[in-house]
Amino acid sequence: MKPVILDVDTGLDDACALLLAARHPDLDLKAVTCVGGNVGIDDVVRNTLTVLDAAGRPDVPVARGAAVPLIQPVRSAAHVHGADGLGNLDWPRSTRPTDPRHAVELLRDVLRDAEATGELVTLIPLAPLTNIALLLRTYPEAARGLREIVFMGGAAGIGNATAAAEFNIWTDPEAAAIVLAAAKDLGVAVTMYGLDVFYDVVVTLEQARALSGSSSAELACKLIEKRSERYNSDGGSIGDGGAVCAVIDPSGLTTREHPVRVELSGSWSRGRTIVDTRDASDVANDPLGAATTIQVATAVDGKRYAELWLATVS
Ligand code: BDR
Ligand code: CA
Repeated sequence: MKPVILDVDTGLDDACALLLAARHPDLDLKAVTCVGGNVGIDDVVRNTLTVLDAAGRPDVPVARGAAVPLIQPVRSAAHVHGADGLGNLDWPRSTRPTDPRHAVELLRDVLRDAEATGELVTLIPLAPLTNIALLLRTYPEAARGLREIVFMGGAAGIGNATAAAEFNIWTDPEAAAIVLAAAKDLGVAVTMYGLDVFYDVVVTLEQARALSGSSSAELACKLIEKRSERYNSDGGSIGDGGAVCAVIDPSGLTTREHPVRVELSGSWSRGRTIVDTRDASDVANDPLGAATTIQVATAVDGKRYAELWLATVS
């Protein structure tokens, strides 16, 4: 089994990702850490516990993390995910307590154990990178417990929060820049599962409504119904769930290696991920110096990942 940690701002599509990670037999979900993003941290925590309960995984430790980005104020995406972040579903909310540790402390502890046992962890951030930046700045040695980081965020093409920037990076650009810089300094492999592939793993309403027989299946159906309502379509993208699919089945994802920077200023482009597709000699002679080179997702086998998700959450 592959050890993983999810960092989430649950969120309808984070919920799709959690159901998959909690139930897939090839993954060992060590912990889930929460950060303010789509909605405020209290709703994020409650939604995360609720989804894990529905998945039959009340054993997974869940920790509360940063409520706000490093520098700028928090901005919600309730217009995408509903006021409570989970589509205001008629679904019983968990009352289970969280782990007493802060998210950063839980991450550090799990990664320290991973380093000791040699079972390195794949970290899957699906939210603003605030917790991860705090972790790598406070405890850089935690990187020794990481196999890789596969994050949802950014785009080589257009944005969604703004024309230029994807929501997770736009919400906390400084955190994203810190994580990319730390990955370079600490030698951590990074894959960016961005908007270029994010919308391409679609579950139809017909497929979703055929799910039944467990609380996980029922919740999964409701999540897809809400996602399809939002995009006024006869199906819904599993969004963040695709990044978990990519960890389970990497051969369904096409990536290319590129240097990537985060725009921290700019009137209209703050939070943009600048994916450098120039040839090697132009990159080597860049007067701005070297960026962090990462794997950038360019295409996904959406049908295969949708089937993987359906088979796991049902
Ligand atoms: C990302 O932002 C959030 O709204 C989603 O949960 C996803 O992580 C997409 O831009
Ligand atoms: Ca998210």
